[in-house]
Amino acid sequence: MTEQIRSIKAREILDSRGNPTISTMVSLSNGLRAEASVPSGASTGIHEAVELRDNDPKRFHGKGVLKAVNNVNTIIAPQLIHQEVNQQTKFDRLMISLDGTANKARLGANAILSVSLAIARAAALAQNMPLYQYLGILSDTPEKDFILPKPMMNVLNGGKHALGSTDMQEYMIAPVGARSVREAVRWGSEVFHTLKRLLAEADLVTTVGDEGGFAPHFKTNEEPLEFMVKAIQTAGYRLNEDFKIALDPAASEFFHDGRYHLKIQQQVLSSEQMIQLYQTWIKRWPIFSIEDGLDEDDWSGFTQMTSKMGQDIQIVGDDLFVTNPTRLQRGINAKAANAILIKPNQIGTLTETIETINLAKKHGFNTIISHRSGETCDPFIADLAVGTAAGQIKTGSLSRSERIAKYNRLMAIELELEG
Ligand code: PGA
Ligand code: ZN
Repeated sequence: MTEQIRSIKAREILDSRGNPTISTMVSLSNGLRAEASVPSGASTGIHEAVELRDNDPKRFHGKGVLKAVNNVNTIIAPQLIHQEVNQQTKFDRLMISLDGTANKARLGANAILSVSLAIARAAALAQNMPLYQYLGILSDTPEKDFILPKPMMNVLNGGKHALGSTDMQEYMIAPVGARSVREAVRWGSEVFHTLKRLLAEADLVTTVGDEGGFAPHFKTNEEPLEFMVKAIQTAGYRLNEDFKIALDPAASEFFHDGRYHLKIQQQVLSSEQMIQLYQTWIKRWPIFSIEDGLDEDDWSGFTQMTSKMGQDIQIVGDDLFVTNPTRLQRGINAKAANAILIKPNQIGTLTETIETINLAKKHGFNTIISHRSGETCDPFIADLAVGTAAGQIKTGSLSRSERIAKYNRLMAIELELEG
């Protein structure tokens, strides 16, 4: 027996881009309260669950979330109150059936997820347990398996996160040689600030994009890789041993009419040519991971890319899988990748998120827990990464508090686990 839910109240807040998003507070019969908020993507996959917005042009240019807030307060809350809080799976299944659609279009995945996450946090609190520990129970992860995730840090932003920069959305540094999260964060911060100096010396602007990475006007999609390598070495670190590089081209954003359009170099490429381009890149730079290198429905391209490069590097599906177990199963069958990005708001409940993580692990896929480009300071994903022993996390650059909140939470968990 744990505590009962006394009330569930949602409200509209702003995300890191200044757009509305939803936050939900769960109060328990003993007076404890837990809140969770939901992030929002920009390069959103077309197969994601629906982020319900008001489309009322008089408020926030149509981006208000009062309908989602109202769905929590008037449809979901009455069904859940007065029940024991410690029933995550039952509540998530109930919300899925209350919604009744395949993609959570009626109540909104944002509405449902805000409740799902707040319930988990409240249940952990009610049992006087750290959130990651409770998530370990929900995901059947034994405590002895808990690991701190290896971060991929997005220090150069392009695509939809920084208009006017590169076609590729994310250029990330991964401090693979760091022995702790504290060390990874320090190394990352040092390289980030070295990169800033190098960009400034080259007369490039050092303002940051949506995920806190720099977003200068590069002339090619390769130039950022040169700068990253130089920043890593100038900061006193070794390529490969200390740092590797990860990319998220988010290729769906530049795929039109069956071709990949790389604007800054005025190239129009086929799937095969994109794969060839990536093959030349991994020979030249210490790239160990490429996410969404191809379009979200280019299944045959992904299969080809995985058969050609999957032995050497991590091939990650984000928009391809949208944290959806059905799409992941298709990818497993088609050998379309060897890793999956996990974003709870792509699917809309904690239970389904965990189901997807466990399915991936069962088939030997790597799992990377991820933020969205529009974030809040809620560090839920840090606990999720530890409690499910995901292995990796992607949570932005070494600037902007909505990104740093996750790194800071990971460092706190690390100290706690060290005892
Ligand atoms: P998004 O981007 O949050 O804007 O979708 C993140 C990603 O593509 O990984
Ligand atoms: Zn992505």
